[in-house]
Amino acid sequence: MAVAIPSLDHEPVGSALRPDRPGLDKAGGRLVVVSNRVPVPSGAGSPNAGGLAVALDAALKQRGGLWFGWSGNTVDGREPETESHEFANVSYAVTDLAQRDLDDYYHGFANRALWPVCHYRLDMTGFNRRNTAGYFRVNEFFARRLAQLIRPDDVIWIHDYHFIPLASYLRGMGFTNRMGFFLHIPWPPADLAAVLPAYDLILRGFSSYDLVGFQTPLDAENFANAIARGGGRALDNGCYEAHGRRFRAGAFPIGIDTQGFRRLAEQGERNAVVRRTAASLEGKQLIIGVDRLDYSKGIGERIDAFSCLIENNPALRNRVTFLQITPKSRSEVPEYAHLQREVAEQIGETNGRYGDVDWTPIRYINKPIGHTALAGLYRLARVGLVTPLRDGMNLVAKEYVAAQASADPGVLVLSRFAGAAYELETALLVNPYDSDATAAAIKRALEMPLDERKERWSAMMRRLETNTVDRWCDAFLGTLVAADHQGMPAPGGDGEDDGLSPELSTGVRRQPLWGAIKN
Ligand code: F6P
Repeated sequence: MAVAIPSLDHEPVGSALRPDRPGLDKAGGRLVVVSNRVPVPSGAGSPNAGGLAVALDAALKQRGGLWFGWSGNTVDGREPETESHEFANVSYAVTDLAQRDLDDYYHGFANRALWPVCHYRLDMTGFNRRNTAGYFRVNEFFARRLAQLIRPDDVIWIHDYHFIPLASYLRGMGFTNRMGFFLHIPWPPADLAAVLPAYDLILRGFSSYDLVGFQTPLDAENFANAIARGGGRALDNGCYEAHGRRFRAGAFPIGIDTQGFRRLAEQGERNAVVRRTAASLEGKQLIIGVDRLDYSKGIGERIDAFSCLIENNPALRNRVTFLQITPKSRSEVPEYAHLQREVAEQIGETNGRYGDVDWTPIRYINKPIGHTALAGLYRLARVGLVTPLRDGMNLVAKEYVAAQASADPGVLVLSRFAGAAYELETALLVNPYDSDATAAAIKRALEMPLDERKERWSAMMRRLETNTVDRWCDAFLGTLVAADHQGMPAPGGDGEDDGLSPELSTGVRRQPLWGAIKN
């Protein structure tokens, strides 16, 4: 069966695209946010809104605008609907997806190709052409639905690995709006990234934006290398020229609502779940880990480290409790279903080996916990264990720090491979692959004197108070709307200002590249 990636041969949509229309492509219009999950307040949207959604919620409520994405629902056999909901100054527009589209785009290419490769896990990939084609097809579908909603002066901010080619499709339809893209997950070194199916198209997808943001300088550097190897070039001031366009790229590390989270943790102290947990500890020190059940989080390695800690320090038996809160995630993806069984077995074995009639070393929970209770549990825990094997940022690390009581703060044990390690330098930084070393860091955290705990925590808290989520939004959007030369075709390009490489260009109607990946 031939599986083709949809062509960008579209007619411009709507009068909004007429270049004589006042305000066309002028910055300062409405903010339009696009992300796969959309936390519609009524509950009509996706129930699993995570860190990204929480971060953006504040930004949109503050500025007003439109949030567009997937509804969280699938339809079979009928045309998916796009519904709009208005809440205060924000409109939420969410669209259903056909089950097959969801499987190919989300379960398939996004989470079996992009996610593992971007997290340096080639061993966790599952590639096939149907998924690759589905990813581009669904991006085109979302672009068509979005095209009905956008105005000429809207500033469009597209989020995460689900939607890298979205701007290419919008540009192909003639939209010249400011378009920014932020990647919430890591971007890997060029040799790893090149393993991706349709890698060239993915890279070209980035070039259709005016600004591409990454979590860390390392991700931005990896991207710059990829552009250079792909025949593009870096100009001054974070600008790049590639695939017939000029655009800007750089690191914009995401923050949290630091003061808001601190207040939540104070309230959390009085939360019933937190009080019951505190009583149940009977004086034992609490170590906490909170992660989606994902192989990038290094949960298995963390359990190994905890086992090492107990094995090497018999005096700690019955004196510590490790609480691992791990909501299930992406269970339809085979690699995740396998991981769920593996982690449950590993925890069972550890508890069986080290536990006693009156002591369960690891408490393991698969359900999500409410925000206030979670913030209170962070505050209760002497050690926050955030040890992903690779992570874009990891907001749990930041929330753990923000939740601590200044008079008696806990200690963050943090993977040096989480984006957060760039800012939280005074955490105990560990290599999560080295279980003995992580165990030694946990021991050090448990024994750390109050003065040192305060000193390390204060330094981290200062960073978090400066780099808040508001500041992140301001920095990204400020850069996106500031430079008016961006988005122009590069000199020597094909002269068509549709923002696309020659192969993708609607203007020149050349043989599109996706013709080559039919099967
Ligand atoms: O950045 C990765 C991310 O998209 C987060 O924003 C979010 O918390 C998480 O993955 C949730 O994944 P999913 O939408 O697949 O449940």
